[in-house]
Amino acid sequence: MEFVQAEALQNYWYPVAEIEDVRPGPLAVTLLGSQYVVWQSDDGRVTAAPDRCPHREAPLSIGYVDDSGLVCAYHGWAFGTEGRCVDVPSSGEGAAIPPAAHLPCVNVEEKYGLVWLCPGEPVGSVPAVAQDSDPAFRRINTGVDVWKVAATRMVDNFLDISHFPWVHTGTFGDGLATEVPLINLEQLDDDFFGYAYEVDVNNPDEANIISGSEEALVHRWMSTGYALPLITRSTIRYDDGLEHILLLCSTPIDNVTSYFTFVVWRNDDHSVDAEETIAFDRAIGAEDKVMLERVPGSLALGQTDMASVQSDKPSVEWRRRFLALVES
Ligand code: FES
Ligand SMILES: [Fe+2]
Repeated sequence: MEFVQAEALQNYWYPVAEIEDVRPGPLAVTLLGSQYVVWQSDDGRVTAAPDRCPHREAPLSIGYVDDSGLVCAYHGWAFGTEGRCVDVPSSGEGAAIPPAAHLPCVNVEEKYGLVWLCPGEPVGSVPAVAQDSDPAFRRINTGVDVWKVAATRMVDNFLDISHFPWVHTGTFGDGLATEVPLINLEQLDDDFFGYAYEVDVNNPDEANIISGSEEALVHRWMSTGYALPLITRSTIRYDDGLEHILLLCSTPIDNVTSYFTFVVWRNDDHSVDAEETIAFDRAIGAEDKVMLERVPGSLALGQTDMASVQSDKPSVEWRRRFLALVES
């Protein structure tokens, strides 16, 4: 079975777009192999439903949004609050609307500048990032990219620090120590499980903006962790107290393609423009993407399917828990 078909995965939240992308929409997205339409109505409410008109199955995402709601491009049926069909132009004013004309909407949540969908019954909330409500921090959104990579491979990579000196040679990793110290896994906070570590990384000129330092090497106090099924987070703290939090989101479009977006929170003085601040992180992400797009297929999930060593402990543990979820 392909992991995207696992019923249990339907019950979690996945970011599929930035809020700006669905204003007013409609926007077509694909999540776990199913197509959805997402739009924002005049009252500000964001709605998501299968991208299929209940009338003759036209994709609703090729329609438009007006003050009545989402209008289908084929025969003009209009869908308002909670996907209720409010107009069937061919039937004329006041005619009864068949119950099957209403859209079977899915759960939507707006958080961290992103639109999150949960097609099933949510078993929890969108993972909490405490810095989002801390006024000392600003949030920077980075857009949503499509990677031709299984979301499982992305999580495996984001939990792995042993690839830094190999893959990130163009950014922060060139010449870094290759040996990974002993990793102790722990609950990092309510939602994230992972590990804390310290590392000295290269601080080239283009990284000075994010590290706040001009030294050639900077010390970072870091943590890396995950919230099941597929959200990961890296936290970075520099010696001077500057913090840089990265929420790395891998949303399965299908078994081997994913939306990738990351969100940054920083307690800096806002003196540097947001886009400039995240340029270095973008370059780091591009290095991961180049490597991962060359690794075919989705990640084998069995514990003995691949050779693993001490530095793989976080991703092995994530994979064990992810597999248990997929099989539940
Ligand atoms: S297919 Fe949408 S209104 Fe007919
Ligand atoms: Fe990486």
